[in-house]
Amino acid sequence: MKLTIERLGHLGDGIAEGPVFVPMVLPGEVVEGEVEAGRMASPKIVSPSPERVKPACAHYRACGGCALMHASDDFVADWKADVVRTALAAQGLEAEFRPVITSAARSRRRATLAGRRTKKGALVGFHGRASDTLVEIPGCLLLHPDLIDVMPVLSEITMLGASRKGELALTVTRSDGGVDLAVSGGKPLEQSLFSELAQLADTAGLARLTWDGEPVANRRPPAQRFGAASVAPPAGAFLQATEDGEAALVWAVRDAVGGARRIADLFSGCGTFALPLAETAEIHAVEGEATMLAVLDAGWRRAEGLHRVTTEARDLFRRPLLPDELKRFDAVVIDPPRAGAEAQARELAGSGVPVIAAVSCNPVTFARDSRIITAAGYRLDWVQVVDQFRWSPHVELVARFVR
Ligand SMILES: C[S@@+](CC[C@H](N)C(=O)[O-])C[C@H]1O[C@@H](n2cnc3c(N)ncnc32)[C@H](O)[C@@H]1O
Repeated sequence: MKLTIERLGHLGDGIAEGPVFVPMVLPGEVVEGEVEAGRMASPKIVSPSPERVKPACAHYRACGGCALMHASDDFVADWKADVVRTALAAQGLEAEFRPVITSAARSRRRATLAGRRTKKGALVGFHGRASDTLVEIPGCLLLHPDLIDVMPVLSEITMLGASRKGELALTVTRSDGGVDLAVSGGKPLEQSLFSELAQLADTAGLARLTWDGEPVANRRPPAQRFGAASVAPPAGAFLQATEDGEAALVWAVRDAVGGARRIADLFSGCGTFALPLAETAEIHAVEGEATMLAVLDAGWRRAEGLHRVTTEARDLFRRPLLPDELKRFDAVVIDPPRAGAEAQARELAGSGVPVIAAVSCNPVTFARDSRIITAAGYRLDWVQVVDQFRWSPHVELVARFVR
């Protein structure tokens, strides 16, 4: 069967009339192949798009870690901006878009790999494209080289601690103290396993090793730098995916809040925005996880030259900050999880806060919340798309709203 690809869907697959979903293709391309259950799994490209490029990574065809490596960087940047534009248009909104900022190859500082025992040893890598096979990725172009270097250690850990049939989730994070490793899905942590893992963490020079939430080794603080402060996040805590992506987000947020002197940072995590912004403003950081706020506070106390930072543990879905609490701030930064922040958006809409810097990893919930805010008299000034999940369909952005 021959099909013409009309557009790409949210997961980066091509969509042709039907709909038929086709992986690793581009809009305008004519493709040929067998269609089964609405999917053409192995398309032959009959007429390639001018935006098609040779994938830079040898693992691309098999590995499910990337979805858009067959497209030019310009195409991917435009497509990601368009995903946001389309989500806003569906809510009747438009905005000025700034040029997309894309993270470099080999810059991912945090990833979750899978590990399985095999007859001969262990297999560690990403899941395959639309399958549950594991693909080893020694030449991965996404991950920072420090994370590639630790692969042999992950294999040893898998051999030691994976059950015969189970799969380990191995979350590796690059930190100032070395690689921070959080493992889940492993065998129960009995004394002998504990000792072997602790010894392995030592010889491999891991900063920290955590097993299903239990600390096994804590050799050096797994520190991250947020502006002038150094913070050691709890194991597995949220961290922006790349260092340069985080720098771009902080730069855009700083630009959005301008000269604000009192800022609320909502969904603050461990202080990605709060601590750099504290160089020029007083910050109130609000977050659901008290452990993240504890390290944010400790980082602030150790740093020199920052303005006051206060913290508040609060469920912002159930108990958003109310207009009366918001009135002491001259800017709000808000960076919710994928679900967005509908309840908080309603309270912001009723507040008099002059500037809102919204950070989002989900254009659909961002657009829904933007409509709530703009319907109350805010103007969507600009949108900055930041692509720190290079070659994936993931989209991140910062937007500025003004009263
Ligand atoms: C996208 S992360 C952003 C964190 C931080 N701004 C950063 O850039 O590192 C979203 C944060 O929201 C927090 N969170 C999730 N649900 C929440 C809720 N209902 N109330 C408050 N915080 C919540 C998570 O713990 C996480 O730290």
